[in-house]
Amino acid sequence: MTVKEAIKHRRSIRRYKDTPLPDDIRVKLAALAVECSCENVSIKPVFDDKDCFDTFLAHYGKFRNAFNYFVLTGRKDTDSDETAGYMGQKLVLAVEEMGLGTCWVGGTFSKGKCKAELGADEKIICIIAVGYPDEEGSKHRCKPMDKICSVKEEDMPAWFRNGVVAALYAPTAMNQQKFMISLDEDKVKITCGKGPFVKVDLGIVKYNFEAASGHEVIK
Ligand SMILES: Cc1cc2nc3c(=O)[nH]c(=O)nc-3n(C[C@H](O)[C@H](O)[C@H](O)COP(=O)(O)O)c2cc1C
Repeated sequence: MTVKEAIKHRRSIRRYKDTPLPDDIRVKLAALAVECSCENVSIKPVFDDKDCFDTFLAHYGKFRNAFNYFVLTGRKDTDSDETAGYMGQKLVLAVEEMGLGTCWVGGTFSKGKCKAELGADEKIICIIAVGYPDEEGSKHRCKPMDKICSVKEEDMPAWFRNGVVAALYAPTAMNQQKFMISLDEDKVKITCGKGPFVKVDLGIVKYNFEAASGHEVIK
């Protein structure tokens, strides 16, 4: 599976198979977590934890057998939400290419029961559930292109259109898709609106755009 195929194929998976992940898969996931961590965002894998999703909201949100997850953390005095979105989506797509399912989770888990070890100056930004899917996931709903992009579809260069389509396939909190993409000569800008997790969403959307278009977004 290529990264473009992974972008289109990915859905949020909330129901997982009850079977433990094999050791070689755990090793690969742990290596990916290291690869996708950076100066401001640390990604920590947690395996076989039955508590983190044992909350009313998680059950209400239809999570089942979500025993494995990555915890994305940043420093308490720094806003690293966008970087967490960008690096986390790099991880999500690599995991999708391995044939596993994922779900970004900002609210419907217990921060208090989360098993990751945090330093005194570290905070949890969000987590990403991972495992063997026990469902297909819901069909991804996309806003019309003209609601998230200032360029008319007929005026878009092919690479730019690829990026816009990939941005529309990006997971966003509550599928809010509160972002706007613009093009000035060959410079791509993506901005976000207001709401919960919009900056995490922005990082995710930027990663999808760059991976599918091969063009960098202005930082
Ligand atoms: C930052 C972020 C936070 C999210 N938080 C939750 C959550 O707390 N609970 C949940 O069930 N899904 C959560 N999601 C998943 C979104 O609801 C999902 O990505 C969106 O509805 C689009 O569906 P899709 O991922 O299947 O395409 C979150 C997604 C993102 C990007």
